[in-house]
Amino acid sequence: MKKDQFILAIETSCDETAVAIVKNGKEVLANIVASQIDSHKRFGGVVPEIASRHHVEEITITLEEAFREAQLDWDAIDAIAVTEGPGLVGALLIGVNAAKALAFAKNKPLVGVHHIAGHIYANRLENEFAFPLLALIVSGGHTELVRMKEHGHYEVIGETRDDAAGEAFDKVARMLDLPYPGGPHIDRLAAEGKDEIPFPRAWLEQGSFDFSFSGLKSAVINTLHNAKQRGEKINAANIAASFQASVVEVLSKKTYEAALHYDVKQVIIAGGVAANKGLRTALNREFAQTDIPLAVPSLKLCTDNAAMIAAAGSVAFEQGRRSGWDLNANPSLLIK
Ligand code: KG4
Ligand code: ZN
Repeated sequence: MKKDQFILAIETSCDETAVAIVKNGKEVLANIVASQIDSHKRFGGVVPEIASRHHVEEITITLEEAFREAQLDWDAIDAIAVTEGPGLVGALLIGVNAAKALAFAKNKPLVGVHHIAGHIYANRLENEFAFPLLALIVSGGHTELVRMKEHGHYEVIGETRDDAAGEAFDKVARMLDLPYPGGPHIDRLAAEGKDEIPFPRAWLEQGSFDFSFSGLKSAVINTLHNAKQRGEKINAANIAASFQASVVEVLSKKTYEAALHYDVKQVIIAGGVAANKGLRTALNREFAQTDIPLAVPSLKLCTDNAAMIAAAGSVAFEQGRRSGWDLNANPSLLIK
C-alpha cells in the first residue's frame, strides 16, 4: 500500500496569509486563512507595503495554528509547497522565504507553485478531475481559460487583454461607493436590480477566447457621469445588475464555446469571482444543455487559500518537480 502523503503549503501572494496541510492531495487537514481585508478596506484596495508587513506578523502564528488543527508535527510532512507567483512581489517574498527557511531547517523538499494552478486545484479538493478539462479562472488579478490534458499540464487558451474580471467588479463597486472588495457587494445588489442598461459585451474577434473589460468599465463610468450631469438619481442596483449581466454573459458564453471547441470532459471554475451567484447560475444553465459536467467549488475554496496550493503542490511533488534554494518570488510568473 502506498504511504500517505502530507503537504504543508504557504500562500501569501496578495492580502491573505494562508497555511494549509493536505493529505494525499485531496483531504484538507488544516486550512488557515488570516485575512487582512479590514486593514486595506479604508484605502479601497490592497496596499502592497501593508500586505507585506501583515504577512511577516501572521506567518508564524498561522503555521502554528495549521499544525495544531491538523494534529500533526513536522515529522509527518513530506514536502513544503509555496506560491512563487504571480502576485505582489513583497507579499510573495514573505511566503517564499518562510518556505525556504523551513525546508532548509527541517530538511524537506521545496515545491514552488503557480497561484493559478492553485486556484484550479482547489476544485480537486472536492471533485476528481476528468481530462481533458477546461478551467475558467476569474479573480482579482486574473481572467483566464486554461486547458489541461493531464495533471500538471496547463495551456492558456484565452486571457484578459486589460482588466481582470474581479478588478472590474472592484472598480465598479468603488464608483458606486461600495466597500472593498466590491465583488460580493455588486453580486448582492445585482440580485435586487434590473438588467435594463445595455452595457457593451466585448466579444473580440471571431473565435478568440480572450476577454476585455475596460470598455465595459468606461461605459459604467459614462453612465454615472451623465446621470450626475443631468441631476438624475442613479439606481445602484440596476447599474450593478446590468454590469454583472455583461460580465457574466461574456464569461459564460466564451467558456461554453471553448468547452465545445476543445471537446473537454469537464469544466471547472476557480478564483474569487467564481463565487459570483450570477456567474454560477449562468454557467449551470449553459452546461445543463450538454453532457459536460461543470464543477463549482464551495465558496471558501474560491478565494485565496493555501489548501489549493497544497493540492497543486501535491501533484507537482508526485511528478518529481522540486525547487532549489534559488527559488524566488516572481510577480509575473507564467503558468506552464
Ligand atoms: O481569488 P481571489 O480571492 O484573489 C485573487 O487572486 O485576486 O479573488 C478576489 C476577487 C476580488 O476582486 C473580489 O471582488 C472578487 O474576487 N469576488 C467576487 C465575489 N466574491 C469575490 N466577484 C464577484 N462576485 C462575488 N460574489
Ligand atoms: Zn487568487
